[in-house]
Amino acid sequence: KTIISKINEKDIDLDEIKKQGKLLSEGKTVIFPTETVYGLGANALDENAVKKIYEAKGRPSDNPLIVHIYNKEEVYDLANDINEKAKEVMNKFWPGPITIILNKKSIVPYTTSGGLETVAIRMPSHKIAREIIKQAGVPIAAPSANISGRPSPTKANHVYEEMNGRVDGIVLGGDSNFGLESTVLDLTSNTPMILRPGSITKEDLEKVIGEVQIDPSLAKKEDNKKAKAPGMKYTHYSPDADVFIVSGNEDAIISKINDLTIENTSKGLNTGVMCLNKNKDKYKATSIGLGDTLEEVASNLFDILREMDKNNIDIVYSEEFPNKGVGQAIMNRLLKSAGYKIIKA
Ligand code: TXA
Ligand code: MG
Repeated sequence: KTIISKINEKDIDLDEIKKQGKLLSEGKTVIFPTETVYGLGANALDENAVKKIYEAKGRPSDNPLIVHIYNKEEVYDLANDINEKAKEVMNKFWPGPITIILNKKSIVPYTTSGGLETVAIRMPSHKIAREIIKQAGVPIAAPSANISGRPSPTKANHVYEEMNGRVDGIVLGGDSNFGLESTVLDLTSNTPMILRPGSITKEDLEKVIGEVQIDPSLAKKEDNKKAKAPGMKYTHYSPDADVFIVSGNEDAIISKINDLTIENTSKGLNTGVMCLNKNKDKYKATSIGLGDTLEEVASNLFDILREMDKNNIDIVYSEEFPNKGVGQAIMNRLLKSAGYKIIKA
């Protein structure tokens, strides 16, 4: 049976944290909130504990996990060849929503690194996440706490509904702040490369470490099998509904989606629309506003994909967002959830 703790980030109950931290130190699995999405944690250095993560998620074992640490110094226990750029990223952005890839030391089991010679490391900023890792007393491997392929959980009810009974502990701790997973940055070659865009953008990074590339295989479906982060190759963020992105100028998008809605209705299919709040009333279908700003869109996207299933929607159309700044992370997740299906308006 899963041990559930409700914890308020603003007024942390240390006894509850200790209870969950103890589970982790005993090799068990605990779900906890972070500033990006909820994570499903276990002792990163204990192969048997890490295997329980893959089981609970139904995750392919060649997809490596991110190791979460409490202190920056722990990086030196886990990784080799920590160069100047890595140090600058750690100093400028940690604790926070960025994961760095470095060459791993042998203490990190291949079960954690998905068989790779590298390891992904992140120092989260969320108070509850930090306290839990501190109490566990070991680095914590934690992928997003969803069943493999589903949208990542950003609210307490997402983890409760999907994962209760599948793990040893769950900390319910309110909504995630950013709502999309951390930026993944590979620092093992000369030019750092973003393997997964997140709220810390290419522009943010370039101010600190100079030229940064984005893995070119993220942009197109045909190239996706070559993605450097194994996780970016899999089908991901998919609700039960079939998702499409509609691109073009705003008026064209709206009239295209309204035409398609009439067509769907005549076939007995329920249509849903994800849009900016200001366009909500312009649609004939069930429309859900993602927010007014790109930051709000990022924080609401996964929740609203789940909401579409609750409303028995068969086909979801999403407005396209500008592929700049945080928009790059939004479009990356949207493209994956749509299986790269784009309709030109
Ligand atoms: O925000 C986040 O990063 C959340 C929270 C819980 O911290 N975690 C998360 O983990 O999103 P996960 O496992 O869902 O995504 C990790 C991504 C996957 O795409 C994985 O393939 C990639 O990072 N990754 C991990 N280790 C890697 C490595 N050594 N080389 C390349 N990619 C790696
Ligand atoms: Mg994930």
